[in-house]
Amino acid sequence: MGKAIQDLLNEHEAILHVFTILDKMLTSSNVDEERDLNFADELVHFLRIFADECHHGKEEGILFKELENRGVPNKGGPIGVMLQEHVQGRQLIALMSEDLLSADLEAFKLHAIEYRDLLRQHIQKENEILFTLADQIISDEKQVELFEQFEAHEETVIGHGVHEQLHAQIHAWEILYQA
Ligand SMILES: [Fe+2]
Ligand SMILES: [Fe+2]
Repeated sequence: MGKAIQDLLNEHEAILHVFTILDKMLTSSNVDEERDLNFADELVHFLRIFADECHHGKEEGILFKELENRGVPNKGGPIGVMLQEHVQGRQLIALMSEDLLSADLEAFKLHAIEYRDLLRQHIQKENEILFTLADQIISDEKQVELFEQFEAHEETVIGHGVHEQLHAQIHAWEILYQA
């Protein structure tokens, strides 16, 4: 596995792990609305910064462009489908954010479930199809170069140290929901 694809796979693991914490919140028998609203707020921030701007940003701005240059189709092909799902994800993040403005936890939960289900199947398709193909057609040397571009993207989009903060936040959620 080349370095660039491995980096994106690691981010998928982090996102999927966060969904297991979300599942705990959704099924928790002791409902604490203040705790759940607070988590929901932090979750929306995480999804916007880490899943969308950082992770989807790397895919759209760097990996998918490289794949297109190598002949993988966008319109009507796998890249187009992935881009469309990123758009749907963004719309759902906006809806979750609106739900929180009116402190509507029940509406938030429904949109969060939709988002989780969308992303779970999206990640599965990337892992099994697009990334497997990408790893075959992009050499390890080229992937080191792409990985450096990923690092630069991360630096401009989320800034130095934010990645670590987000990981610390995930850990705090694990304790909160015993995930
Ligand atoms: Fe994606
Ligand atoms: Fe992805």
